[in-house]
Amino acid sequence: MCGISGYAIYGASESIQAILNTLFDGLQRLEYRGYDSAGVCVDAPASEGSGTGPLVIKHQAGPGVPAARLAPRRPVPRGQLGKISDLRVRAAEVFEENGFDGEARVSAHVGIGHTRWATHGPPSAVNSHPHVSGANGEFVVVHNGIISNYATLKPFLEKHGAVFVSETDTEVIPHLCEYLWQKRGGRITLPKLAMEVCSRLEGAFALLIKSARYPNELVACKQGSPLVYGIKHDPQGGIRVWLSSDSAALLTHTRDIVVLEDGDVLHIDPHGHPQIFNALALTTNTLAARADVEGLAVVREERKVEAEGGYDHYMQKEIHEQPKTLAETMRGRVIIGKPLQPLASGAANVMLSGHALEPSAAGAALAAAAAAGGGEGGFALPPGRRAGGKGAAAARATGLAAAAAAPLTAAGAKSPSPGRLPAPSPSLSPSPGGYAASDFGGAASDFEEPYIRLGGLADYVEGILRCRRIVFIACGTSFHACLAARATLEEFAAMPVVVELAGDFMDREAPVFRDDTCVFVSQSGETADTLRALEYAKNKGALCVGITNTVGSAISNATHCGVHLNCGYEIGVASTKAYTSQIVALTMVALLLGADRRSMTAKRLDHVRALAALPDAVRGALALDADMRELAAQLKDASDLLFFGRGYNYSTALEAALKAGGRGGGGRRLGGRVKEVALIHSEGINAGEMKHGPLALVDENLPIIVIATMDAMHRKMESVIQQLLARSARLIILCNQARRAGGRGDVPCGGFGAGLWFRAPRLEAPGDVAMDAFAARGCSLIRVPRTVDALQPVVNVVPLQLLSYHLTTLRGFNVDQPRNLAKSVTVT
Ligand code: F6R
Repeated sequence: MCGISGYAIYGASESIQAILNTLFDGLQRLEYRGYDSAGVCVDAPASEGSGTGPLVIKHQAGPGVPAARLAPRRPVPRGQLGKISDLRVRAAEVFEENGFDGEARVSAHVGIGHTRWATHGPPSAVNSHPHVSGANGEFVVVHNGIISNYATLKPFLEKHGAVFVSETDTEVIPHLCEYLWQKRGGRITLPKLAMEVCSRLEGAFALLIKSARYPNELVACKQGSPLVYGIKHDPQGGIRVWLSSDSAALLTHTRDIVVLEDGDVLHIDPHGHPQIFNALALTTNTLAARADVEGLAVVREERKVEAEGGYDHYMQKEIHEQPKTLAETMRGRVIIGKPLQPLASGAANVMLSGHALEPSAAGAALAAAAAAGGGEGGFALPPGRRAGGKGAAAARATGLAAAAAAPLTAAGAKSPSPGRLPAPSPSLSPSPGGYAASDFGGAASDFEEPYIRLGGLADYVEGILRCRRIVFIACGTSFHACLAARATLEEFAAMPVVVELAGDFMDREAPVFRDDTCVFVSQSGETADTLRALEYAKNKGALCVGITNTVGSAISNATHCGVHLNCGYEIGVASTKAYTSQIVALTMVALLLGADRRSMTAKRLDHVRALAALPDAVRGALALDADMRELAAQLKDASDLLFFGRGYNYSTALEAALKAGGRGGGGRRLGGRVKEVALIHSEGINAGEMKHGPLALVDENLPIIVIATMDAMHRKMESVIQQLLARSARLIILCNQARRAGGRGDVPCGGFGAGLWFRAPRLEAPGDVAMDAFAARGCSLIRVPRTVDALQPVVNVVPLQLLSYHLTTLRGFNVDQPRNLAKSVTVT
């Protein structure tokens, strides 16, 4: 799967750099379709000694991008991720090397780009698109799909003088264009030429073709692979056209989109006028015999595309898609039981605690993934290739590397970094078939227990467990996710866990040891502070683990192993779905690390089941949307907001405060980087600190949201509420749904139907009674579904995300692009 992107302007003055940026942004949105190489073609700006003409710039996937390269000479626009960020850097280099002025303005221009997932020919610069015929870019092509008759076309074209430089199927297309153009003596229009080319191609394709022979014209052809475009007319008369493999990639430019159909050839003429032709019904010869293509014009309706799913904003969409994204994060990793006979839908029954049940959609997804053993998307260097650190280098130099790859025998033995590399753990290695008896070391017949599988970490579990401590390093929301998961890691892995803000960590140059495991958590995988800390920890010889959402990002490239969140591209600047997926990923890591602790078996199984039920619990929390809008309407004129949390939910308080628009009380670095969405000053406060200062702020006007769900901190939070009420505080309490509604004392396991409950500390009814009493005293209650303590922050944050979203829109601010903020902070 590849992604193609195009951008053309007519009568609208823009710089080549701005045109490139639009192409890069479009490609970045398509990176999920392929990321092993990328390229663009724009017209080179006029400069001394060179005229204008197609300039092709390519970048091939390589080893991790060194941090230094992520701070390029000139500021690069925000949002750089993965391979496209490398391409941006490469483009800047090409411009500098050739003395091109990126700021040179043009009023008509066609640019095309491509992000590749290799099919024919390995990832390499030469195989990456665009592909070209002739020395001057006579025809330049980007292609998504497969040309199945390329092996026939290639020798034919070679016989007629074409010189192939790549191993791709795509390269036949520009050469075929050139061949037919020559054959017609150049007396052929671009759309006619494109249609004749397409009639000779077999397979599936979406193409963009740009040509020095047809300046400022563009054709886009679709047969089997997706292709859409959108056009906007400026009030000043300028025309802009965007093309893409995916309509979602165009939504930041326009919502009026035309979806091309099979056989369509879209032609944009040199004045920006679009026309679509379709010759699907014609044979190659009939088409060739026609003098023109006018009679083949077709009309395709322009559609209004809402931000996916009918949402108004990406942040809203990303909040609401969390049941799905959490299931994606767990797909193939949370193995909840042995698939029984397949259901008609193709999903599988699951067995939990002896109950054979119909799974919910999320449960079915997980079960199906388990059954399919689907690629779950971790990343790891083979242990022998673990790089980094002077210790590792020294070990290699002195021939210790082979010994380093051997498992250690003395548990807990301190070892130089390379020596920590474990042999694959037989009990934890991924099993391609979904699960196997060997995964538990037991017989198939007694294999019905849920478990966690993280392929990216499997070979590193023993190594991590031998470490002295785990150090989490992250920024912003990702830092909060680490705080949320810290106690779970401490409990299941039975290891000391330290959580560090990346910037502060580097300001202090905090000590790191070779027997540390440093875990770098970053949605983008590109945050400069986190990357700097990663290079630093690696140089100290620590084992470096990455938790990121971005395949091919600098952090996933530079860490030794890790876990991808798989929750889909996050577009809203305020991180929402990545946050909940981060907590889930870290919880899975904790359960994996604790997998061999017998004393934790029952608790571990409860947590695995709770993970499987989590999408349904989050769905329950999303049902509070209308209530949160109403609450936002009440709070929208407040100048300050406080969030009180404790234990697992201290992180929830910090994260809610960050989203609502203020300062989390996390530390000096965070204090310096105020994150604003609703632009209300807000603070996340550890309720345990209340009497040490914050109580002085409390009066009847300041709204305070207290997180008091039924976890181990509940009693303490009740007492906090009493003390706040004694000072006439204006309280909103986030608590659990009353258990009497469910009629059970235990915790519902969510969407697996009636009768399934997992063990949890049985709290007496007074918890509910107390909440009712608080409501009677004027407190507003936000009631969310209950889950295990470790995952309650995932559920709790959802209504607070919704609150922040509604506060922002009601206050009239841009929720997807908050003032002064960028999605990826790639400068320190
Ligand atoms: C807040 C937010 C930021 C990021 C932070 C780290 O909504 O998105 O605080 O969490 O800039 O970014 P990543 O996770 O990409 O390293």
